Amino acid sequence: MPVQDTLSRPLRDLRISVTDRCNFRCVYCMPKTVFGRDYSFLDRKELLTFEEIATLARAFVANGVEKIRLTGGEPLLRRDIERLVAMLAEIPGLDLTLTTNGTLLPQKAEALRAAGLTRVTVSLDSNDDAVFKAMNDVDFPVERVLEGIEAAAAAGLTPVKVNMVVKRGVNDASIVPMARLFHGSGHILRLIEYMDVGATNGWRLDEVVPAAEIVQRISAELPLEPAAQNYPGEVARRWRYRDGGGEIGVIASVTQAFCHDCTRARISAEGKLFTCLFAQRGTDLRALVRRGAADDELAAAVAGVWRGRADRYSEIRSSETAAVPKIEMSYIGG
Ligand code: GTP
Ligand code: 5AD
Ligand code: SF4
Ligand code: SF4
Repeated sequence: MPVQDTLSRPLRDLRISVTDRCNFRCVYCMPKTVFGRDYSFLDRKELLTFEEIATLARAFVANGVEKIRLTGGEPLLRRDIERLVAMLAEIPGLDLTLTTNGTLLPQKAEALRAAGLTRVTVSLDSNDDAVFKAMNDVDFPVERVLEGIEAAAAAGLTPVKVNMVVKRGVNDASIVPMARLFHGSGHILRLIEYMDVGATNGWRLDEVVPAAEIVQRISAELPLEPAAQNYPGEVARRWRYRDGGGEIGVIASVTQAFCHDCTRARISAEGKLFTCLFAQRGTDLRALVRRGAADDELAAAVAGVWRGRADRYSEIRSSETAAVPKIEMSYIGG
């Protein structure tokens, strides 16, 4: 890709991690061999406060951000998260969303909607209890996540998207059953190629099920046709059921990298700005807010970092880059 293309990608999408903790231990994200009882998570005082997050959010909106996604870890574990949602909802014109494992949605969906959240994305890797347990290391049934999805839909946090990370030999037998489960439901299943995020998930290329194979396996049972992008830089490729049963998305970050269109920035729970999911280093924005930097100074700092960005990890990924030290997904947020 010409360097100019890489440098001219606009900043549109901000993901903010509000905690590095999670009540799941997904094998592809926080394997329990690494994130066990001895793992040291961030201290509460390290975390950005809600006021600091809102101040930073405004600096990103001043630079063109139109969508903010709250992530984690598990964002609903952060106490009073609906208060943060209400603060961010005061910024006009934002698509304000959140990625969650769904377990706390039955309690929280109504309050999140009332605070101004637009919609949610729920992670669910299988509809089979045994596979779900093996992949996510939780000891409750899939039904609990399904209840969360329904609570979100009932509260109007729609369309609900469902993220399934596909790992060959682990949950690929659930691809078609998951498609059947959500076909006609109004929810949008998104099948995601397993990525080499972080340094702990032991990623191997032969465990990635290519998006083309995923689409072919579903289409053989429930025929699909391609649908147009919703917006430039959308990471999911959309496919529509020919029988009118809704749509799915596939996210091919390994086999069809989309760095040339990447408009996403990420802030970790302790306030570091990362311009790539696979970055090795972030820029400390917390120091700036904590010393009381003015809004225009913060906005200029963000602009400076974004202007200098040349990230395109997924386009240069190889067996060598997979071993390079990287930030964990649970720290930087999906
Ligand atoms: P919409 O706003 O609903 O279009 O959401 P989205 O598709 O941007 O969001 P989501 O956070 O649900 O992304 C789904 C998954 O795609 C993430 O959890 C990652 O696995 C992957 N992904 C998202 N953004 C990037 C990115 O910038 N780079 C790479 N390599 N993968 C990404
Ligand atoms: N590969 C792909 N996606 C991942 N996520 C976490 N780890 C990985 C990985 N190794 C994403 C999933 C999940 C969200 C919280 O983070 O989309 O739904
Ligand atoms: Fe938790 Fe989501 Fe990571 Fe799974 S993918 S361990 S639910 S943050
Ligand atoms: Fe963007 Fe980095 Fe993902 Fe490429 S690998 S799409 S640059 S976040």
